[in-house]
Amino acid sequence: MAQFPQLVFSGVQPTGNFHLGNYLGALVKFVDLQRSFDCVYCVVDLHAITMPQDPVELTKNIREVTAAFIASGVDVKKNIVFNQSQVAEHAELAWVFNCVARIGWLNRMTQFKEKAGKDRENASVGLYAYPTLMAADILVYRATHVPVGEDQKQHLELTRDVAQKFNNDFSGSIAARGHGDAFFPLPEPVIQGPATRVMSLRDGSKKMSKSDASDYSRINLSDDADQIAQKFRKAKTDPDALPSEVAGLAGRPEADNLVGVFAALNETTKEAVLRDFGGQNFSAFKAALIDLAVARLGPVGAEMKRLQADAAYIDGVLRDGAQRASAIARANMAAVKDILGFIR
Ligand code: AMP
Ligand code: TRP
Repeated sequence: MAQFPQLVFSGVQPTGNFHLGNYLGALVKFVDLQRSFDCVYCVVDLHAITMPQDPVELTKNIREVTAAFIASGVDVKKNIVFNQSQVAEHAELAWVFNCVARIGWLNRMTQFKEKAGKDRENASVGLYAYPTLMAADILVYRATHVPVGEDQKQHLELTRDVAQKFNNDFSGSIAARGHGDAFFPLPEPVIQGPATRVMSLRDGSKKMSKSDASDYSRINLSDDADQIAQKFRKAKTDPDALPSEVAGLAGRPEADNLVGVFAALNETTKEAVLRDFGGQNFSAFKAALIDLAVARLGPVGAEMKRLQADAAYIDGVLRDGAQRASAIARANMAAVKDILGFIR
């Protein structure tokens, strides 16, 4: 297949309660990757409205995610940071992909089943078509690498299937227009490290989520030191001491989760954490975890608050990013229209 220039794309929904799972699963990687790649980071507000949103809250949440990007160290000059609804080509390419993807593919998506719940007939059409919009987000930039948490793996596979089917279905037109044997790359997920799936602090079998009714299930980036300490202190554990080896975490989801979070925050491995804490009880380990989390997250939360107070600055970042994103998206969308045989 043709070679594509390396480009990173990822998106985060502005749905409030930005939490430790988002931070470790996505943001930390966004910051890492900007050292070696050109990156496009998007606040996916069109995805947010697949579920009911209050307009005032949505505006606030778009700024919250943008502030989280910047406070975590995303460089908005080097990279492109913007909100999805300002670049119309996302929705335009999503329509094309609705006509490429098969109903059977979407029927397999587990996130739709989770979010739609029992009353599937009453879910929005947008929630069902969500993955084709996500494919469009990535492919409208012809991005090659996508840092996400474990929960997005299936959507990335669908994105690759859409890209592959488009390349196959229109191979003649793609070649005739000088794009070689493929117009879209098959983007690779970047899912690695000790915290690709951070679990709820109340239940080690459920992932940490924005929508969990209990605020004690998650650490929000907006939590202060006292809240962080209290939530970790109350976090569910088991009665045993920590094992000295990773194998000893099997069947102990809460212990496994806290060790993974420690490792990720300390930029080390679970093995290294257990070398230091193996044999110790949870109260000693939690005290160290609280110190580490407060030291690492405290400054991010404080910077987010400072940035969120300056809406004009945040909105300016998004507008500038949208202009730069549009330039790429417009050119790629024009090529897609030519490939499809549309007149423009
Ligand atoms: P969302 O808020 O659903 O748009 O998610 C934003 C990013 O955070 C995506 O890359 C998700 O995969 C990631 N993410 C969400 N929840 C978790 C979690 N509990 N553990 C790890 N990554 C997560
Ligand atoms: N579906 C992703 C989530 O819920 C958010 C998202 C939308 C995304 N478009 C994307 C992630 C493109 C990566 C690339 O977390």
